[in-house]
Amino acid sequence: MAYLCPTFNLINICMSYNLLKGKKGIIFGALNDQSIAWKVAEKAHEEGAVFTLSNTAVALRLGTLDELAKKTNSEIIHADATNVAEIEKVFARTMEIYGGKIDFVLHSIGMSPNVRKGIPYDNIDYPNFLKTLDISALSFHKMLQVARKMDAINEWGSVVALSYVAAQRTLFGYNDMADAKSLLESIARSFGYIYGRDKKIRINTISQSPTRTTAGSGVSGIDTLIDFTERMSPLGNASAEDCADYCITMFSDLTKKVTMQNLFHDGGFSSMGMSYKAITQYNKSFEECD
Ligand SMILES: NC(=O)c1ccc[n+]([C@@H]2O[C@H](COP(=O)([O-])OP(=O)(O)OC[C@H]3O[C@@H](n4cnc5c(N)ncnc54)[C@H](O)[C@@H]3O)[C@@H](O)[C@H]2O)c1
Repeated sequence: MAYLCPTFNLINICMSYNLLKGKKGIIFGALNDQSIAWKVAEKAHEEGAVFTLSNTAVALRLGTLDELAKKTNSEIIHADATNVAEIEKVFARTMEIYGGKIDFVLHSIGMSPNVRKGIPYDNIDYPNFLKTLDISALSFHKMLQVARKMDAINEWGSVVALSYVAAQRTLFGYNDMADAKSLLESIARSFGYIYGRDKKIRINTISQSPTRTTAGSGVSGIDTLIDFTERMSPLGNASAEDCADYCITMFSDLTKKVTMQNLFHDGGFSSMGMSYKAITQYNKSFEECD
């Protein structure tokens, strides 16, 4: 459907396909308008979905989630995603609002106290490490376990969490978040089997390009990393908006048989070894040394 987009100054045509018409969901992790979850909420709204928004009480104070809630006509339910009782509250209230089961869940949550405090991987603080794993990976298991126990998701529903290629490849500065992402992707496979077998619910992770967001900016050398991956990827980096488009397709009925996958959404970066541009630059650096 083409319609005039009221939020733009210039007349602009927004394409929407009603891909999520009639679908209900929960979006965890929108903090501000840079957040990937924020873009997913905007697109899900455009595509006809209704959903609740969840984040921590602190994030609600520091961020601008109210603005998104107003724009998408959504209710905010605060919860710490490491706390099972609070996750239960989010699912229960969402089902109450929409009068039954939901169809999609986005887990867009990540935080490492070690990264935040600049503590290096080979001198790591273990209580911090456990927090990283709890916030960034176990919270995904907790959501899935709560949803299953409450029988909160309709058949053919879709759950997506956001990951990063550091789960497979070592990237300087990503620290214990790399371990958290490996665990996150593994949970998608392990729970994906059980939830798919019993309830036809699909669980996937989307491995996104480095993106300038609040969490992204915490990674040491993020600007150089973004430049590097932009040059190495044949299609260039995927933006937060591009990621939102991909999430929408994963929530839609067009991807019903996709489950237990880690889906790279990175302009081709994860399949690259050496590009023509990179090898030219590499040779140049030796010429300068000669
Ligand atoms: N930005 C990137 O470069 C990039 C690349 C690949 C994957 N990702 C992943 O995308 C997801 C979203 O991050 P983003 O880049 O949009 O940044 P963001 O900072 O906007 O989002 C991270 C969110 O996690 C929330 N959060 C932190 N601790 C929480 C807790 N205990 N309970 C509930 N929520 C909590 C924050 O409040 C915030 O809303 C994360 O999983 C991140 O690792 C980001």
